[in-house]
Amino acid sequence: MMAIKSHHCCFSFIFLLLPLLLQLHSVKGDLQLNYYAQSCPNAEEIIKQQVIKLYNKHGNTAVSWVRNLFHDCMVKSCDASLLLETVNGIESEQKSDRSFGMRNFKYVKTIKDALEQECPRTVSCADIVSLSARDGIVLLGGPRIEMKTGRKDSKRSYLSEVENTIPNHNDSMELVLSRFQSIGIDTQGIVALLGAHSVGRVHCVNLVHRLYPTVDPTLDPDYAEYLKGRCPTPDPDPEAVLYSRNDRETPMILDNMYYKNLLKHKGLLVIDQQLTSDPTTSPFVEKMAADNGYFHDQFARAVLLLSENNPLTGDEGEVRKDCRYVNSE
Ligand code: HEM
Ligand SMILES: *[C@@H]1O[C@H](CO)[C@@H](O)[C@H](O)[C@H]1NC(C)=O
Repeated sequence: MMAIKSHHCCFSFIFLLLPLLLQLHSVKGDLQLNYYAQSCPNAEEIIKQQVIKLYNKHGNTAVSWVRNLFHDCMVKSCDASLLLETVNGIESEQKSDRSFGMRNFKYVKTIKDALEQECPRTVSCADIVSLSARDGIVLLGGPRIEMKTGRKDSKRSYLSEVENTIPNHNDSMELVLSRFQSIGIDTQGIVALLGAHSVGRVHCVNLVHRLYPTVDPTLDPDYAEYLKGRCPTPDPDPEAVLYSRNDRETPMILDNMYYKNLLKHKGLLVIDQQLTSDPTTSPFVEKMAADNGYFHDQFARAVLLLSENNPLTGDEGEVRKDCRYVNSE
C-alpha cells in the first residue's frame, strides 16, 4: 500500500514539474502580446495604417489578408512560407491549384516596406500575415481579435504539402473536419472559419460542375440560373476572370449572411453547401445564421487558433527583409 502511494506521489510530482522544466530548457520563444514593444514599438500601428490605406484604395486587399492567413497557417506553420516566390530552387506555394484566385500579394510589399523604413529587419513577414488578417477582419466588419506576435519566417516553401493540408472545394466534410481538427480547431470553430466565404469571390472553374450538364439538386434553382448568367459556359478558360461574388447581399462584410444563404441553398462551393447537409455541422450553421454575435465570437476564437498554429519562434527561421525571398547569407 505504502509503496504504491509514494510511487503515485512522485509520479504526479514529476508530472507537475515537467511543463516547467520543459519551459526552462526551451530554446523556442513563445508568442507574446506586443512582442515588438521594445524593438519596434510602432510595428502594429504601422501595419494597421497600411492595411487601412490599402483597403481604401483596393477594398479586396482586406479579403486577401484573410485568405492568406488560412493558406499560410494551414500549411505546416504560420511562417510566411506562402509568400515566397519561385526563384533559386524555391517553388512557390502560390503555384498550387489550391491557391487559385489568390491576389494582392504585391501589396504585402507595401506593408513590409513601411516597416523596413522604421525598423529594418525586425518585424517578420509571418507576423505581417497574421496582423494584416486581424486588421482586415475589422475593416470587413468582423470581430476585433487580440493576437500575439513573435513568429519567425521560414527559409523554405512547402508546395508539395499544400494539397495535403488545404482542402479542395469539393472534398468531403469528413476530410475537411479532420484537416482542421489536426491543428486543434473544433467543429464549431471550423464552421465559423468557413464564414470567411461571406466575402470575396469564386471563379467559374470552381462552380461550373454544379451547373452543367445538370444543375446540382442541392442548389436553389433560381440561384443556379443567376450563376449560369455569371458563368455562361461549362468550360471556362481558367485564365479568364469570370467569377461570382460569394454573397450578393453584403459582399464586403464578414457577417452571418453566409449562413443564411446556406440555409437557402445558395452556397457557392460544394463544401459550403455541405455545411448544412452534414449533421455534424448543420446545428452550428443554424446557430450562426440566427446570431451574428455568436458567429463573430466563434470566428475570433478559431482565427486565433489558426494564427498560432505551430509558429517558428526564438532563433528558428529568420526575419525576411523582402517577404518574397529568403535572406541571402
Ligand atoms: C474547406 C476549407 C476551404 C476550402 C475548400 C476553400 C476553398 C476556396 C475556394 C475554391 C475559393 C475561391 C477561389 C477562386 O475561385 O478565386 C476560396 C475563396 C476564399 N477563401 Fe476559402 N476555402 C476554405 C476555407 C477558408 C478559410 C478557413 C478561410 C479564412 C479563414 C478562407 C478564406 C477565403 C477567402 C477570403 C476567399 C475569397 C478570396 C478572394 O475573393 O480573393 N477560406 N476558398
Ligand atoms: C473535384 O474537383 C476537381 C477539379 O477542381 C476535379 O478534378 C475532381 O475530379 C473533383 N472531385 C470530385 C470527388 O468530384
